Order: sequence, then structure tokens, then C-alpha cells
Amino acid sequence: MLRSVVTGVGGYLPEEVVTNHDLAKIVDTTDAWIVERTGIRQRHRAAPGQAVSDLALIAAQRALQAAGRTPVDVDMIIVGTTTPDLTFPAVATILQRKLGAPQGIAFDIQAVCSGFVYALSTADGFVARGRSRCALVIGAETMTRLMDWTDRGTCVLFGDGAGAVVLEPGQGEGTTADRGLLGFALCADGGKQDLLYVDGGVSTDGKVGKLRMQGNQVFRHAVVNISEAVRAAAADAGVEVSEVDWFIPHQANQRILEGVARRLGIDEKKVISTVAEHANTSAASIPLALDQGLRDGRIKPGQLLLLEAMGGGLTWGACVLRL
Ligand code: ACO
Repeated sequence: MLRSVVTGVGGYLPEEVVTNHDLAKIVDTTDAWIVERTGIRQRHRAAPGQAVSDLALIAAQRALQAAGRTPVDVDMIIVGTTTPDLTFPAVATILQRKLGAPQGIAFDIQAVCSGFVYALSTADGFVARGRSRCALVIGAETMTRLMDWTDRGTCVLFGDGAGAVVLEPGQGEGTTADRGLLGFALCADGGKQDLLYVDGGVSTDGKVGKLRMQGNQVFRHAVVNISEAVRAAAADAGVEVSEVDWFIPHQANQRILEGVARRLGIDEKKVISTVAEHANTSAASIPLALDQGLRDGRIKPGQLLLLEAMGGGLTWGACVLRL
């Protein structure tokens, strides 16, 4: 059977680093509060004029290079993003042009922080059916552009960045030893919209809007929802959570990462955490964490990975894959 195999990974973080101390100059907060409640120490911020497609472009080029592919090989681009360059066209088609990819389909997925997990699962529907030979799956965000810089409860949490993977079909035996995406679980509950949303949009007030969040309510749902999705994805893949080599969560808050790991009995040494340096980069956070783990040598080919996320919607989900 065909499997969707990750053959290359790349990430990009904008140059500017904004520390907690920098934010303490503009809102009533402290480095100690942010570190204690979230684990975040700094975040990256896109430069004026740097659009989300520019971030995605560098991540995509790095992922293609790692896979030994060129833009000419790419036949599908899916971008998980909440912060597109323009209302339309999709970031994916803008990226197709900037990348110089001459063929294929391109579209965005809007599932907020779950965007990468949703995009990867969607791409599997093409790649594992032989309908895409070389897919770019990307999470890219400029979340700092959605911040209300007077709201200390949200503006300290988010950062900008992009992460990309190349997915290619690989022949598997239909066992959990196969390389590729082995299982996933996706969920949504539109009834919880008020907990996390942006208060503007094209067909309402015509504005971009600012991110609004009832942080403690989101927190309460996160640990329970994510744990359920992880168990469902593991069951879909036919593996035990305890077999997983690396747990690569959406990087929202160190306390959520630890809470989910504890609930699932995952050793904290198996958790890849970038939340201190990257903050919450929404759909970009999982591929950025994967990239970091690969580059520092912790994650190795052949290992079993578990990815999970929850975001606005609410949306949540998890994927199990063998690298
Ligand atoms: N600095 C100092 N004090 C602050 C700050 C800050 N940056 N932010 C909030 N506070 C204050 C509040 O005003 C409140 O003060 P009060 O008691 O005087 O009213 C107090 O701290 C406690 O506020 P809570 O919101 O209850 O604090 P909590 O411990 O829940 O931490 C946090 C807040 C960090 C936002 C946490 O709830 C959280 O991480 N939630 C989850 C967010 C998340 O995971 N989002 C993921 C999805 S994001 C996406 O999909 C786009």
C-alpha cells in the first residue's frame, strides 16, 4: 500500500526577536509571570513588509532541499494559515508563484493552530492515493499581526514563523513498521467559538480584527481534547502511545504540553518543546518543532512521531507518523 512519507523538513523564523522584557515595556506584565504561566521567554516577529508567503517560501525551499527536490517536482501545495497575505488568492498559490513551481494544485486550510495537523491529514488523501507525487505541506503564520497590543492576556503568547514538510508516496507493507503517515484523528466543536476567535472579517465588519481569547477556558479544554485526539490517532495507526519515540505538540503553553504528556503517561524527555524560544506560532509550531528536533539530532529517520494540536474553532487533532 502507498504511504505518505515525509522526505524533507524545513523551518524559518523571522530575524527580529522580541523578549518578554521588551513586552513588559508596552503592557503591564513581567518576564517572571510569562515564564511561570507559559514557559515563553521570547518570540520572533516578521519585519514590516514581510508577508506570510515570504516566511513560507524560505521554509519550503529548505524542506525541498532536504528532500533533494526542486520546485519543478512539486505538484501540490497546502498551506495551513490563519494570517494570509490577502483575503484571496490563497497563500498556497502566492507561494507557488514565488517558488517558481510550474504545475499542480494549491490551496489553504484554515484551522488556526490545528492547521498543520489538518493539512497533513488532507494531503494524505492525495499522496497515499497516488494523486500527488511531491506535496509541500506548510504551516505559516504572522500571528503578531492579529494582536491587540494592549491586551496582556494574549499579546505575550504569540509569535511568527513557518515550517514545511515534503510528502512523497512510498510503498509500505500495511504495518506499523512502514514509513509515512500511519493514522490521524481530527475534531472540531464550533460551539466553542467564543473561547478563541478574531473579532473582524471580510463578510462582517470588513476589518482584519484582533485575536480574543478566554485563556483559562481554552486551557481547560486543551488537555482533555488533545489527549482524546492522541488516543484516537494512535488507535487509527494501530500503535500504543507508549511506543512513540517523540511527542511533537503544538507549542501553545509549556503547562499544556506537560499536562497532556502527564495524562497520556508520556515521559517528558520524549517531548519536543520550542515554546520558550518560538512562543505560539499557531499552524507553524509543529513543523518548526519537528525541524528543530531533526536539526539538533534528537529525531532520527525511522522513529515514530506523534503530532497534536488544538486551536480556534475549536479545532483539534493528532497524527502518528514514522519518519
Ligand atoms: N502578565 C501579567 N498578568 C497577566 C497577564 C500577563 N501577561 N495575562 C493575564 N494576567 C493576569 C490576568 O489579568 C489575571 O489577573 P486577575 O486575577 O487580577 O484578574 C491573572 O493574570 C490570571 O489570569 P488567567 O487568564 O486566569 O491566567 P492563567 O493562569 O489561565 O494563564 C494563559 C493565562 C497563559 C493565557 C493561559 O490560560 C493559557 O495559556 N491558556 C491557553 C492558551 C492557548 O493554549 N491557546 C492555544 C490555542 S491558540 C490558537 O488557536 C490561535
